[in-house]
Amino acid sequence: MKVTAALSHGPGKPFTLEDVDLDDPRPDEVLVRLVATGICHTDLYVRDLIPATAVLGHEGAGVVEAVGADVTKVQPSDHVVLSYAWCGACPSCESGEPYYCHDFNVRNMGGARPDGTPTLRRRGAPLFGNFFGQSSFATFALATEANVVKVRKDAPLEVLGPLGCGVQTGAGAVMNGLEPLPGEAFVVFGAGTVGLSAVMAANLIGCEPLIVVDPLPARRDLAKRLGAHHAIDPAAADPVKQILTITGHGALYSLECTGIPAVFEQAVRCLGPRGTCGFLGAPPPGATAAIDLGGLLSKGLRIRGMIEGESVVDAFIPHLLDLFLDGLLPFDTLVTFYDLDRINEAVADSLEGRTVKPVLRMPR
Ligand SMILES: NC(=O)c1ccc[n+]([C@@H]2O[C@H](COP(=O)([O-])OP(=O)(O)OC[C@H]3O[C@@H](n4cnc5c(N)ncnc54)[C@H](O)[C@@H]3O)[C@@H](O)[C@H]2O)c1
Ligand SMILES: [Zn+2]
Ligand SMILES: [Zn+2]
Repeated sequence: MKVTAALSHGPGKPFTLEDVDLDDPRPDEVLVRLVATGICHTDLYVRDLIPATAVLGHEGAGVVEAVGADVTKVQPSDHVVLSYAWCGACPSCESGEPYYCHDFNVRNMGGARPDGTPTLRRRGAPLFGNFFGQSSFATFALATEANVVKVRKDAPLEVLGPLGCGVQTGAGAVMNGLEPLPGEAFVVFGAGTVGLSAVMAANLIGCEPLIVVDPLPARRDLAKRLGAHHAIDPAAADPVKQILTITGHGALYSLECTGIPAVFEQAVRCLGPRGTCGFLGAPPPGATAAIDLGGLLSKGLRIRGMIEGESVVDAFIPHLLDLFLDGLLPFDTLVTFYDLDRINEAVADSLEGRTVKPVLRMPR
């Protein structure tokens, strides 16, 4: 079928809107009419890594249009949020941790179905598609039973897409990954969607002090409105010293949400004895970081990467949605809406820090 998609064309290049061809759903696939999709920093990270013309986007929300013959989880007219793809058969998936699927890169970043066939074509030639098992910068997307999550129909569908990546990544890192207790010191580096979702979750748990580090004044203000007790400007003074001054003996938890290696090093150095650093940001390819091994040993530190907030999406996304509808996880405060044809403005606003979470509305 013909769909309208926002195509990326390589590093830094503007998106263009074009009509392209989307395959019919196979027996295990779900065709979704998108209502809206978030733009995540990872979309821009991948746009700038690959030379190919691509349909990116991985925070889709929409309505099931059609299902393949083997699909039982959803049916046409169901409201769904799309998330990351996973295989269901590897050791990680079988042990209930699909976010570490051995086939994660192929299924989410491979540009085609796992068997290599394209889902999208432009004038007959294959496009880089099937991004995170969806490619949601388009009016319709093909997903699989594994990565569509049915959601309540009384929820405002057009704001829900970010639950599928940015929000679950930050909130899940706290609620599923680090699991701090009330009264424990928690530091978040980077107040984008990922970091601020972590702030909302840590605030909900009652972490104290809850400290945020970000160079942008508007984001520090937002972090405070969402529950942070302290919001630190890393340009004003060494953020590690500022954190040690506030906490006395260092934080018990830190969460890196920028992908900048030097910030990761700060996130480790600000920890006190028994501290744990969670690492979420997408680093530059091949990046390494320096860690004081003596401190690692003597303080018994832990460092752990985390994908997608270690979210088992069919359970965790409806849970986050319930919290949102109860007013406990107000991630809609991060969202600014743009029509699909304003995608380049949305990207510029996001890169320049004017918008935290751009959400593209699809034409009707
Ligand atoms: N692990 C995962 O599964 C996963 C999922 C989604 C996104 N990501 C990655 O997480 C990161 C955050 O995503 P986002 O959408 O929130 O991005 P974002 O760009 O909106 O947020 C990053 C924030 O970091 C701040 N920052 C810049 N320099 C800083 C510094 N020196 N100290 C502290 N903060 C600084 C920026 O001002 C910005 O507010 C990205 O790298 C993204 O690719 C990872
Ligand atoms: Zn993402
Ligand atoms: Zn798997």
